[in-house]
Amino acid sequence: METVVHKSPGLEADAVQQQQIHGQSCVIKIDISIKGFLRLHRWESKSKLVGKYPPHIFKQIAVKEYAKRFPRTTFVETGTYKGKMIEAVSTLFTNIITIELAAKLYRRAKRIFANRPHITCIHGDSGKKLKEVVASLNEPAMFWLDGHHCGGLSAKGDLNTPIIAELEIIANHKRAIDHVILIDDACRFDGIDDYPSLEQIEVMCRDLFPHAVFEVEKNLIRIHPQEKNSQRPTVLVQSHVSGLIDMLRIFGSVLVGSVKAFKLPFKYPGEKVADRFY
Ligand SMILES: C[S@@+](CC[C@H](N)C(=O)[O-])C[C@H]1O[C@@H](n2cnc3c(N)ncnc32)[C@H](O)[C@@H]1O
Repeated sequence: METVVHKSPGLEADAVQQQQIHGQSCVIKIDISIKGFLRLHRWESKSKLVGKYPPHIFKQIAVKEYAKRFPRTTFVETGTYKGKMIEAVSTLFTNIITIELAAKLYRRAKRIFANRPHITCIHGDSGKKLKEVVASLNEPAMFWLDGHHCGGLSAKGDLNTPIIAELEIIANHKRAIDHVILIDDACRFDGIDDYPSLEQIEVMCRDLFPHAVFEVEKNLIRIHPQEKNSQRPTVLVQSHVSGLIDMLRIFGSVLVGSVKAFKLPFKYPGEKVADRFY
């Protein structure tokens, strides 16, 4: 069994384990599939294409990193779509709630997660439904706010994004101070089509969550409590070659030239990309 390591200081990440290094810096190890690893690799090797959306695995790594840095039992997602994020975090939380406006996507998710009783699928507009969900929480939670119109099968509520209502609902919760909030697609917050500008979101969040850290990095808006350790953990994303299919995947990628060579450990080249977005 071989391990490819993808080192990304400050980048996001299936938190498996944290370690103290020299008593200071923390390392978070995240396992991803070879398929995900190759996808990430392909995207990064084209990362000069600033503005190109990162693959979903990139977001999964970020969510998993925060799940490790801020352990919470409940995960709340707005915008289920095909349930990719729920699938990715399904073993990291004991209570998972996801809200989807498109009836077809909601029914699909309900079917997919039917045999996992810790996952609850809710149908409706998250700008409204989130209120009941948040009211039911007795503990701080992690929120993945991603319920917006995105073409294709996706739905559109009264607004293209209900983000303002969502943030207000979360801020009104008794444990608001301890919630962790990640908002996808920071680059869409441009003041157009119901999207507030990033500056407006920042002003709003600093008012609603005065004690929280507000950051925009790698296209994600991140709102979370202060950490005791001021040093950001280093994230190690690693992937295990566990069978013939994985070998074939790697071979195929080398053959088509999307992966030049696998050197172990594999060094993450992400520092080259623009920090706020990609
Ligand atoms: C970008 S996709 C979500 C992807 C998913 N969170 C993931 O990470 O795999 C956005 C989803 O939000 C849904 N949506 C749009 N407006 C919504 C609203 N007001 N309330 C709930 N869901 C909404 C769309 O139908 C679409 O399925």
